[in-house]
Amino acid sequence: MSEIKTIHLKEYKKPAFSIESVNLTFELFEEYALVSNIMSIKKIDETQSILSLDSIDLELKELWINDLQLSDSRYTIEDEKLNVLNVPSAFTLKIINKIYPQNNTELEGLYKSGTIFCTQNEPEGFRCITPYLDRPDVMSVFTTTVIADKELYPVLLSNGNKTQCHDSFDSRHGVTWEDPHPKPSYLFALVAGDLGSISDEYTTASGEYVELNIYCDKGNESKCHHAMKSLKEAMLWDEEKYGREYDLEIYNIVAVDSFNMGAMENKGLNIFNSAYVLADTDTASDANYMGIQSVIAHEYFHNWTGNRITCRDWFQLTLKEGLTVFRDQCFSSDLNSSEVQRIEDVKALRERQFVEDASPTAHPIQPKSYISMNNFYTSTVYEKGAEVIRMIHTLLGEENYRKATDLYFETFDGQAVTTEDFLWAMSEASGVDLSAFKLWYHQSGTPKLEVKESYNNGVFTLSLKQIIPDTVSGKTQQVYFYPLKMALLDENGIELLEKTLLISKELEEFSFEGLSTKPTLSINRDFCAPIIIEEEHSNFSFLMKHDTNSFVKYEAAQSFAIETIEALMRNEGLNEEYIEAYGHLLDLDIDLSYKALLLELPSVSTLMQRMSIVDFEPIYKAKEELSLRLATVFKEKLLNIYTQNHFAKSVELDALSMSQRAIKNRVLRALSSLESQDITLLAKTQYEESLTMTDRVVALDILENTHPTFAQVALRDFYAKYKNETLVMNKYFSILAASDREGTLQRVVALQNDEVYDEKVPNLVRSLVGVFARNYKHFHSKDGAGYSFVANKIIEIDKINPQMASGLCGAFKIYNKMNDISQTLMKVELERIISTQELSKNSFEIISKILKINKK
Ligand code: BES
Ligand code: ZN
Repeated sequence: MSEIKTIHLKEYKKPAFSIESVNLTFELFEEYALVSNIMSIKKIDETQSILSLDSIDLELKELWINDLQLSDSRYTIEDEKLNVLNVPSAFTLKIINKIYPQNNTELEGLYKSGTIFCTQNEPEGFRCITPYLDRPDVMSVFTTTVIADKELYPVLLSNGNKTQCHDSFDSRHGVTWEDPHPKPSYLFALVAGDLGSISDEYTTASGEYVELNIYCDKGNESKCHHAMKSLKEAMLWDEEKYGREYDLEIYNIVAVDSFNMGAMENKGLNIFNSAYVLADTDTASDANYMGIQSVIAHEYFHNWTGNRITCRDWFQLTLKEGLTVFRDQCFSSDLNSSEVQRIEDVKALRERQFVEDASPTAHPIQPKSYISMNNFYTSTVYEKGAEVIRMIHTLLGEENYRKATDLYFETFDGQAVTTEDFLWAMSEASGVDLSAFKLWYHQSGTPKLEVKESYNNGVFTLSLKQIIPDTVSGKTQQVYFYPLKMALLDENGIELLEKTLLISKELEEFSFEGLSTKPTLSINRDFCAPIIIEEEHSNFSFLMKHDTNSFVKYEAAQSFAIETIEALMRNEGLNEEYIEAYGHLLDLDIDLSYKALLLELPSVSTLMQRMSIVDFEPIYKAKEELSLRLATVFKEKLLNIYTQNHFAKSVELDALSMSQRAIKNRVLRALSSLESQDITLLAKTQYEESLTMTDRVVALDILENTHPTFAQVALRDFYAKYKNETLVMNKYFSILAASDREGTLQRVVALQNDEVYDEKVPNLVRSLVGVFARNYKHFHSKDGAGYSFVANKIIEIDKINPQMASGLCGAFKIYNKMNDISQTLMKVELERIISTQELSKNSFEIISKILKINKK
């Protein structure tokens, strides 16, 4: 553990050297690759005589300054550095080194996904390729030549524009790419392979022609059209909404199967996890289609928010990620149902970010320190970061926000900047003072707002109290400044007023006069602020029926269900009023996908977050009791909704067809808690007849959880049909790993020997082991077998791919909220993991935080 180093934001120093240009040549072979790296370097700080380049596992072949090859005495190679001694003020440094992409299972730097050479360099992968000032504030112009076997690798790609093809008489060929835009090394990319592709074109608002290509494994070309359509939608949206145009002659996207994350925004050459590119109606669900649209857009939007303007250091990550997530959320909201989009985004925030913010790994959207930067691509930096930008948008208003982003782009184009610089632009262009708002960047934990109402003589008074959690280490934190959208409704649900309050103190009162009767409060409309509202009692059933804000209406339905389930958990009986209100929801004539959300019961995770000591059994039990009651009472209505919206032969992807699938699958799930013959038959028939993956997967999941014999037949059929489609097999593994049934762990263990399963493919590991680790029922089984299995996998996978392993460690973040018996079982496993020889710093960072919290 000796080399474990913590990096601190406060230790940031400007680079001492600049790299004006880089000329890279890659010679790719079947066992290794040779990299030639020629940099033109200048001193910024004349007092420095040592150039210290980042480098991991360096196998140095040659080192030159200008025309002089350096002897051993002119440089040192440390752990993760190549130090060149006595360097002049300006010089050309040439490095030739050897790397082994074929053995790279970490999937960082240059590696092979199947037969394709590809790269992943954010945040610090470039140093695995060649020595470099591998930090985002060193921006340079890259020229890249890739040389490889003609037949095995006909397609050779890198960033920017293709400027030369080198054809020789032997079996090898080469291509040179030039990227005119200075960029940090983390945006460098290279791809070589025998790829299929589809092409299209786009003409920018100012008339520039752009060639668009999407590359994939041969045979998958027909599955790339939705991604292409999404790319063009994103290009147009960024022109219209932000005035941002694309800036190269070519935009390439490559889909690969082995990828740690979703996708990467490398300049002019995005590399994608194939799960976010490939889709057709037979193999992709509606959710997959939406996911592709948003990830394609996200990576495209980075071209301005991330690439043209990048981060000064990795502590600024939310500068590009929070902002770009906000942009992709707005894009999806504009292109699809905005009410559904907002609810889905809030759901994701609460399920992942709120949980993280209450855990031992809680951190501000701008963290202060890290051991492994890879661990900070978190839902806090991303989703809470996006909420922070959304609040700025609310505070400024649409028009000022646009002025402010224009100023941001104008001022900082071509630079590596900080969140302070962003906030400067926001406030400079709008005149809105954001000094108090900045706290959102530096504090952790989810703020609460205690709400009390009173009504006297026509005056309605809101008393608000901010409750701010301590940091993980027990330090108190300050109250926030934020916008809070609210409304008052009269007894018919008519809006009496709507206002955005500015909250800034610990205790505050707001009074509203001239109200003839006591109004009903609708608070945190649109989930304007990422906080937890705590209210003694609120009129949930009224708001469910009458609120004019689609988010608060949903929220009321959720809150009412939570209240009902929690009463059941306390053995207080079932609140009949809730049953009636649910019946009202069933009758609503509204957008069907929105309705599907209104009918969904709160997740186990939502209920779990509200307990100080978590016990899953009562949650499951109460939820099952409520579901069963609802299904029994409303069986006929639910069945009616099902038949009215079920068209087995429809494969259309328009909004109406998708929302019909959403509602009918929601009611089928609701009905499935009856576990009756007629409903399981309905699910079985849906599985057999439907032509979409959406319908098949829901039916399969229902059968798996309610009817083992039907499930066995359907699963066998599914496997036979799709065993050659890895993306579909992810769904198969997920359904089995998430199953409620007895024996789930044993089946998961056995599935690791399935010929389709491959521990080196992150998607497969996530869908089997990752999904199991979030299957509360079985992960937390009382005998500790779930913990022990996941711990074994972490230890094993850590040696292959540390990033994947530390992702799995996340399952143990709930440690300090479990009861003593579970904690004792978990502790054994956590200590076993942390005492593993050569544990990666990624896993070490997460596990050590989990263990420390309990020591205090
Ligand atoms: N820049 C990231 C990719 C990335 C993630 C690099 C982690 C290094 C480490 C990319 O823009 C991104 O954010 N991808 C997301 C998907 C996105 C839609 C939120 C991802 O990969 O999960
Ligand atoms: Zn991103």
